[in-house]
Amino acid sequence: MTTRIGILTGGGDCPGLNAVIRAVAKSLMRQCGAEVLGIEDGFAGLIDDPVRVRPLPWDAVSGILMRGGTILGTSNRANPLRDEATAARVLAHVQALGLQGLVVIGGDGSMGLAHGLAQRGLRVVGVPKTIDNDIPGCERSFGFDTAVATVTEAIERLQTTAASHGRVMIVETMGRWAGWIALEAGLAGAADIILLPEIDFDLEAVAAVCRARAQRRRHTIICIGEGAKPRGGQPTVQAVEPRPEPLRLGGVAHALAAALQPRLDCEVRATVLGHVQRGGSPTPFDRVLATQYGNEAAQLVMTHAWGRMVTLQRGQLTSVALAEAAHGNRRVPLDHPLLRAARQIGVSLGEPGDP
Ligand code: F6P
Repeated sequence: MTTRIGILTGGGDCPGLNAVIRAVAKSLMRQCGAEVLGIEDGFAGLIDDPVRVRPLPWDAVSGILMRGGTILGTSNRANPLRDEATAARVLAHVQALGLQGLVVIGGDGSMGLAHGLAQRGLRVVGVPKTIDNDIPGCERSFGFDTAVATVTEAIERLQTTAASHGRVMIVETMGRWAGWIALEAGLAGAADIILLPEIDFDLEAVAAVCRARAQRRRHTIICIGEGAKPRGGQPTVQAVEPRPEPLRLGGVAHALAAALQPRLDCEVRATVLGHVQRGGSPTPFDRVLATQYGNEAAQLVMTHAWGRMVTLQRGQLTSVALAEAAHGNRRVPLDHPLLRAARQIGVSLGEPGDP
């Protein structure tokens, strides 16, 4: 009997999804002659009646390695666990399609859904996706490197215009409750101040750094993660569960600009990069990582290692139980070497007494 495996992309998109789809499908086709079915629009395609699926023969997954987004479509809102009847319908659809297993490519939300379905009997394997790099048990999700590259380029562009006008320029990154994008892109783009959700910033300290730089006729670049907040303040992105739906984005850069302007003599401007960070072609690093993840997911399928998510730990490809990836966020640890390096080279993290 031919092995038939389904694949879906859930949650927000990110660069590298197509690279994973391609690697999963090619690996399964080549190694065990499997037939691969693509589920459309994430879990929605399995919840809907009739189901929305399409065959993914070799030609359908060729030539998509570099393409951003997902050829299968995705959805944030489809929840196969919204009630037991929906979960049962999804399981019945999987059976009716003759799927021996399902590969779910998604973030922590999708891994939680995959885990819930696994507990109800679904044979499923997960692949970690998010530009935020915040999935528990995974030190690098694909899509993150591309987002960092995009933000870095934006900061470089802001550097020249900020210098021309002697301004303070604030650039807001995505990342929800984790500051990975702001931290790495801030360092790569030579930001002067990096503000993270993990370290509540001191507004007066930030203003003092800007003033000290202005005295030396220097402009200032502030890179701020969307979940960052001042000491004693509220985050713009709600940092607690349950998450607001839909998640409201943006605004922390504008709020900071409004708070800083009266404290400074120079002009302050804010840029919110938004979904630009999720679009476009994956970097070579993400293409390679996504290919490795996809191929590894196919190995898990072929060895029937169900209920697991492929991952990278200490630079090695491995897998963890879906349950491990399903809950919480992996935030920047306060003793992370990049934080130490930032402080030691004189980058302000918005802390009192900063240079
Ligand atoms: O989790 C990925 C992410 O891009 C976050 O960085 C951001 O806060 C959120 O998704 C945006 O979600 P949406 O696309 O639903 O606005």
